[in-house]
Amino acid sequence: MSSEKLESYKYNWPHFNPDEDTHWKKSDNSSHIRQLPEMKEELKLDSRWPGFFPSPICFVTTTNGEVVALEKVVGATIVNRFPYIIALSFCIEPLSKRHYPRNRFTEMIEKSGVVAIQYFEPGSYIDAAMTAINQVPDEEIEKRIAYSRLPIRKAMTNDSPVFKDAYMVYEARLAKTGKDFEGVPIFEQPYTDYGSHRIYYFEIEAIQLREDIAKGDSQISWQALPFWTPLNKLQDEIVQESQPLIDLKYQKGYSPNYFFPSGNTVSFEYDKIDNGMAVKFLPPLPEDQVEVDNDRARWPCFFPSSAGMITTWDSSGAPNLMPCGSTSILVRHPLCIGICVSYAEINVRYAPRGSLRALNKTKRFGCGVPFVNDSIIDAIRYAGNISIDKDKEKVQHAGLQVSAHEWSPVLPALPIHFFCEVVKVIRLGTHFLYLGEVKSIQVRDDVNLSNPMKWYPYPDVIRR
Ligand SMILES: Cc1cc2nc3c(=O)[nH]c(=O)nc-3n(C[C@H](O)[C@H](O)[C@H](O)COP(=O)(O)O)c2cc1C
Repeated sequence: MSSEKLESYKYNWPHFNPDEDTHWKKSDNSSHIRQLPEMKEELKLDSRWPGFFPSPICFVTTTNGEVVALEKVVGATIVNRFPYIIALSFCIEPLSKRHYPRNRFTEMIEKSGVVAIQYFEPGSYIDAAMTAINQVPDEEIEKRIAYSRLPIRKAMTNDSPVFKDAYMVYEARLAKTGKDFEGVPIFEQPYTDYGSHRIYYFEIEAIQLREDIAKGDSQISWQALPFWTPLNKLQDEIVQESQPLIDLKYQKGYSPNYFFPSGNTVSFEYDKIDNGMAVKFLPPLPEDQVEVDNDRARWPCFFPSSAGMITTWDSSGAPNLMPCGSTSILVRHPLCIGICVSYAEINVRYAPRGSLRALNKTKRFGCGVPFVNDSIIDAIRYAGNISIDKDKEKVQHAGLQVSAHEWSPVLPALPIHFFCEVVKVIRLGTHFLYLGEVKSIQVRDDVNLSNPMKWYPYPDVIRR
């Protein structure tokens, strides 16, 4: 369960009753459906997401060389492994009071090309940063950090301000044009525009982690999936005609209740200690970063993410499921979900996914939202380790019922399902980013105001 400190940041969804909201239509399979896109006039009044996807929140600073600025980003995601890239998306079109163009902030990013992505412990620091962001508009962005009264110093590899009270900092620079391992050009432009948002790609150059965490005296604790309790039956009984490929207990573990560092994670291999922070510099060339060893190819440090349950119809006609940690809502209008799928042949961990075939052929995918539940977590472990190329009955063996929707397989056990159409594919080096425009959203009947999903968008830090 979550800590006391996190309770005040809990986000409940939905904030309406699908039964009473005219956008939602009751369907015959114990769920409600909403068609998208929304009308601009509707968005102007309320541009909160029409469907929920569990997204972490971080604070981002930048500079134009003269002044410094602060913004928050919902759903910052690591989108590529080599080079090591984080995507941050910013609104560039006026939609509503909530979604307005971050002109000054993005101008500064484009001038200096640098950011520092930062995390505070739950409590007064988050509150001070959030208040400054809410009180000081984008036009006066250079006043935000002073307004927050949070002390700063300079980042190690660029001039962005770093908050002295941040426990983790990712320093990054707009991705440079280069070539992937097959010699194909990547990042001819360091951003992608779609609809209301500009998605920037930043290459990570250094990671700072508070010394006590790097040394294991404290741990970051992250609840990667939302909490929810189904009131109706989870799903129909699954009849397994054949055995799963490998007994689940021999699989690479996955737990939504994540601690860093711990026995199951890499340890943070830092280069030096400075200002009470352990600092790791990443080599400038992706060739020098590649670790063919499966374990060392893991992310070098914790970065908060959740997971999308990406469903496709394989060319064999079988349903497929790919748990995808790099899943994020990247565009508000039309609502788009980005998923990052490995195509590079590096090692067992980073190998081309079977899902690529279906994504490229059908240009459609489903994105289900998983939650804290033993059956769902077992399914993530199985489907996230076994490719459809090895097991054609993968979803059934993962223990999940499939309902045969023509667009994408739907997993009735999951509370929310987004039906997406691929509108852009961006080659990033080891992963393709598939940008999927959401055409409709399906929500189980037992997700409602009195039985909402609960989500904590911030990691916590605990002393040991
Ligand atoms: C929690 C979790 C998150 C994952 N995130 C990603 C991801 O973001 N991108 C990716 O390419 N693979 C990711 N994987 C690995 C794929 O799910 C896995 O390779 C899967 O078996 C691919 O299935 P397929 O070959 O049938 O498409 C993840 C696995 C787990 C368990």
